[in-house]
Amino acid sequence: MKTTKIGIIGCGNISSIYFQAGSNFEILEIVAAADIVKERAQARADEFNIPKACTVDELLADPDIEIVVNLTIPKVHAEVALACLEAGKHVHGEKPLAVTREDGKKVIDLAKAKGLRVGSAPDTFMGGGIQTCRKIIEDGWIGEPIAATAFMTCHGHESWHPDPEFYYKAGGGPMFDMGPYYLTALVNLMGPVRRVTGFTRATFPERTITSQPKCGTKIKVDVPTHVAGMMDFENGAIGTIITSFDVWGAELPYIEIYGTEGSLSVPDPNGFGGPVKLMRPGSGWVDMPLSHIYADNSRGIGVADMAYALRSGRPHRASGDLAYHVLDIMQAFHDASNEGRAIDLQSTCAKPAPLPLGLRMGILDE
Ligand SMILES: NC(=O)c1ccc[n+]([C@@H]2O[C@H](COP(=O)([O-])OP(=O)(O)OC[C@H]3O[C@@H](n4cnc5c(N)ncnc54)[C@H](O)[C@@H]3O)[C@@H](O)[C@H]2O)c1
Repeated sequence: MKTTKIGIIGCGNISSIYFQAGSNFEILEIVAAADIVKERAQARADEFNIPKACTVDELLADPDIEIVVNLTIPKVHAEVALACLEAGKHVHGEKPLAVTREDGKKVIDLAKAKGLRVGSAPDTFMGGGIQTCRKIIEDGWIGEPIAATAFMTCHGHESWHPDPEFYYKAGGGPMFDMGPYYLTALVNLMGPVRRVTGFTRATFPERTITSQPKCGTKIKVDVPTHVAGMMDFENGAIGTIITSFDVWGAELPYIEIYGTEGSLSVPDPNGFGGPVKLMRPGSGWVDMPLSHIYADNSRGIGVADMAYALRSGRPHRASGDLAYHVLDIMQAFHDASNEGRAIDLQSTCAKPAPLPLGLRMGILDE
């Protein structure tokens, strides 16, 4: 098949799985790697047999590249995405879409003005686990969804990430870091949110890195590290989410959806697989078989989906509008806490189309 040529900007920690996506999805051909640290681009190019390691400007000037994958750190996501769009490229970026609503909106508006596509991580909601949950809800197994809970608690990333400062700076914190997985999954399952409120706090003003190579370095914490949010979904359901870098241990589910006729236990939205569990009155929790494939780490599936969507003209699933809505929700939790009130959201989005049943690995549109 004719491939879509991809350039990757940002060759750090998460980039390997995206380079791997070039082998996992038939439609993707990764032709260039760029990073402000040239050696990082060269290292990934060598590792994955990519023909070109280059500067960002050289990558953007390559007329063969149709989609740029932006894997830089959050605070430059918007700036890099805008440069890609200015260069006439479609862009799919790591989460969050941008650090502020204003920057997110600039990206969406420029793409619309130029007739280009914007996509954003996470694409884990396209995995077998959450697609199975979507089918269970839409087939009516839990009746009408009335509420949802979501929990992500840990003690931060300074014990394992080699370069963890950005998690404690603007655009970091547990909500901007992990909220996109949980909120994107919830919007995919329940639809958009119309109103939120929330409370935030920062418990530890300083963090000490215990991972190598920066072991012992102190990080000044600039952002809230415990964020509790409430959501009023457009379908009338009520959602509760807690994301925290302040908790040493907890025994909480990832996501649960409660319906008029049963409950659904949703797997880790930071992964692609199960387990999916269903509970209906009169029975205990039952493990459900996955109805959809892509249960293994398939990061990059959102880029492949955009490549197919460009061919047929259909909407792509991990869309900029979805990512902007998620960014708006996350910002609104913080605004609600700072201002002591509930916030009516200005954004909304369509639920992405479910993936079809019976797909073959590596192919999204037959
Ligand atoms: N590490 C993970 O497990 C993980 C998982 C999911 C998503 N993410 C997201 O992926 C993104 C990258 O995370 P990471 O862990 O790979 O970070 P990282 O710091 O390891 O890598 C980021 C890379 O981007 C490069 N970079 C920064 N600014 C740039 C610019 N202006 N132009 C070109 N290159 C630039 C850096 O030199 C670095 O190599 C973040 O948005 C993060 O939220 C990370």
